[in-house]
Amino acid sequence: MIASNTPNHIPVMPNEVLSLMDLKPQGKYVDGTCGLGGHAEMILSGLSKKGFLLGLDIDKDAIKICKKRLDNFSSNFHIEKKSYSELSSVLKIIGMGQVDGILLDLGLSSLQLDSQSRGFSFKESSHLDMRFDQGSRIDAASIINKSSESEIADIIYYYGEERRSRFIAKKIFQNRPINTVDQFVEILKKCAPPHKRNKTLARVFQSFRIAVNKELDNLSSFLEKYLDCLKVGGKIIIISFHSLEDRIVKRSFKESSRKGQLNIITKKPIIACEDERIKNSRSKSAKLRCAVKL
Ligand SMILES: C[S@@+](CC[C@H](N)C(=O)[O-])C[C@H]1O[C@@H](n2cnc3c(N)ncnc32)[C@H](O)[C@@H]1O
Repeated sequence: MIASNTPNHIPVMPNEVLSLMDLKPQGKYVDGTCGLGGHAEMILSGLSKKGFLLGLDIDKDAIKICKKRLDNFSSNFHIEKKSYSELSSVLKIIGMGQVDGILLDLGLSSLQLDSQSRGFSFKESSHLDMRFDQGSRIDAASIINKSSESEIADIIYYYGEERRSRFIAKKIFQNRPINTVDQFVEILKKCAPPHKRNKTLARVFQSFRIAVNKELDNLSSFLEKYLDCLKVGGKIIIISFHSLEDRIVKRSFKESSRKGQLNIITKKPIIACEDERIKNSRSKSAKLRCAVKL
């Protein structure tokens, strides 16, 4: 169990994940975005002593908490600080072979969002960081301060789906250097009428987070290779939190289904039930897609 002083992150659609994964007690599984280990703990609880779960994450703080939380399962569980986009090479390196199921729960954990120093939330004052991997070279401040005005506008337009991207980019460009969340929020607030401010802030923050962590590139590169990592009959479950990710997953599943490589289980994405949406606000935007390798 998670200790009471460790940050809590409620796993999204836990019952749906377990039911769709339909665990084989002796099976081999991957949680590609292990986070604080919520889904991982559920999967491990369904495995026998011969079952195995490989966890991946790129956030060293999350890995530390997850390792501690899943200490009881140490003989069935191993976590690596690697991107899920590198899954096929990690499986080769650790000699794990093809697996029975892979879970990706994309986006950020409550540990990251609630952190007062990592710059993910526009409600917390800190350096404009936004890196999932604290060892990576490029943070949000460096992208904001070093990119051209049109590069900034493209980030906001494509990753934030914000129509006033050019205007916002101009204001950002005029006010550089920008190094803190507070400074950034003040500038963004002037770019939107009061009733649209929170939406604009959320979109712009999302866009730079996606750019800093190359989130869409990682997802696309994973989707090109994951089929080789799955056994025939193996399951892939991906939970995404915005339309950009969901569209990429949907297209990839459709393409593999057309080629006869995949059977799509969720013709429409599954969303959280009313009760979960009330209890866990993160679940409101979650969309789950599942498929089986043929
Ligand atoms: C929504 S959280 C996962 C929460 C987890 N399912 C749980 O129940 O505790 C997403 C996690 O994915 C991690 N992450 C983001 N990009 C990643 C990548 N490319 N490779 C591996 N992990 C990544 C983040 O650091 C974060 O910890």
